[in-house]
Amino acid sequence: MASYEFTSAKVGSSVHLLNIIPSFAVCTRKLHFLQKSAWNRLAKWCPWLLRDEPKKPVKVLVTGAAGQIGYAIVAMIAKGLMLGADQPVVLHLLDLPVAANALNGVRMELIDAALPLLRGVVATSDEAEAFKGVNVAILIGGWPRRDGMERKDLISKNVTIYKSQASALQQHAAPNCKVLVVANPANTNALVLKEFAPAIPAKNITCLTRLDHNRALGQVAEKLNVHVGDVKNAIIWGNHSSTQFPDASHATVSTDRGERPVRELIADEIWLREEFVTDVQQRGAAVIKARKQSSSLSAASAACDHMRDWILGTPKGTWVSMGVYSDGSYGVPEGVFFSFPVTCEKGEWSVVQGLEIDDFARSKMETSATELKEEKSIAYEFL
Ligand SMILES: NC(=O)c1ccc[n+]([C@@H]2O[C@H](COP(=O)([O-])OP(=O)(O)OC[C@H]3O[C@@H](n4cnc5c(N)ncnc54)[C@H](O)[C@@H]3O)[C@@H](O)[C@H]2O)c1
Repeated sequence: MASYEFTSAKVGSSVHLLNIIPSFAVCTRKLHFLQKSAWNRLAKWCPWLLRDEPKKPVKVLVTGAAGQIGYAIVAMIAKGLMLGADQPVVLHLLDLPVAANALNGVRMELIDAALPLLRGVVATSDEAEAFKGVNVAILIGGWPRRDGMERKDLISKNVTIYKSQASALQQHAAPNCKVLVVANPANTNALVLKEFAPAIPAKNITCLTRLDHNRALGQVAEKLNVHVGDVKNAIIWGNHSSTQFPDASHATVSTDRGERPVRELIADEIWLREEFVTDVQQRGAAVIKARKQSSSLSAASAACDHMRDWILGTPKGTWVSMGVYSDGSYGVPEGVFFSFPVTCEKGEWSVVQGLEIDDFARSKMETSATELKEEKSIAYEFL
């Protein structure tokens, strides 16, 4: 299996019939008209010929599938929230051998949920089996941060895991596999994957900052008492950590009087630069304090949003935040995974260019870039 077309696999069977009748393949307008009318007459008597060709299942890997986010995301994927309501999937679930029983429980629940899009489940603790032929990889498994654990220790533990998974990705995944790293430190784990899976294009490796992006939209919606679906174009710049810079200065709200800048509607620079930024940065900690467990439902939902927009495209006039390999846009250093505003079309993301960056934003972006460079050098100590 080499690659799947995610966006346009539905082809009317009329096209197939025309293709297999060689005399019809001559492409003049007149002939085409004759083909169509002949086809219409035929289809009238044989309506089954008009049925759409079913899409081929896409293989989706979820690592850490027995964990909190894994448990929340598998049903979302199998219900079409990630790849579309008509896209069948085969789920590959990977977790550690110690979690094999729990993973088997997840597999059993997926069967019990009788999900029509789900065409198979592979539950394993073997990396080679898990990565085999996958078209999409959602990497959630990793070493968790424990109380008192130094950042250096967290990075070193995860570097080892991601180096090994890079090798499995490179050897066993489909060559065009699209990868989303969720596990922390997400940006640096993505960098390790990129370095050790050179056969996978760097553009196919991304990390999750969509949860922070969605949190930013949610905070603005609450502040203005509007529906979150009417708010768009917030930005998360930088690392998925407390140095990230949530930026609402280019965001807009859809109102009865058209699209209006959030800056104008809120008209409170102090809120936008302080309370909003801190609330988004600290939201994960606030959820842990309230729930005694880290965000999982919202993280799973954000991961589905990330992949869906990447593969199926962002709506016109809307951008989203994705952690991607920096090409130096906005003066961000190359060689780190940095969250940028991106638009997506036909399975490709591009960084939104030309946004005005003021001194405040510039200094916040630099702080996060500096942290990412430090994480990178710590990671290299252990590679
Ligand atoms: N980027 C984001 O926005 C974001 C948001 C929330 C959580 N996270 C991160 O996501 C990760 C998972 O969070 P969670 O709440 O599901 O944690 P969890 O501890 O509930 O689950 C993690 C799972 O990963 C498994 N695992 C560990 N090492 C593995 C390996 N080498 N291969 C396969 N599986 C492995 C564990 O056994 C466990 O089942 C954490 O690193 C967390 O910090 C990121």
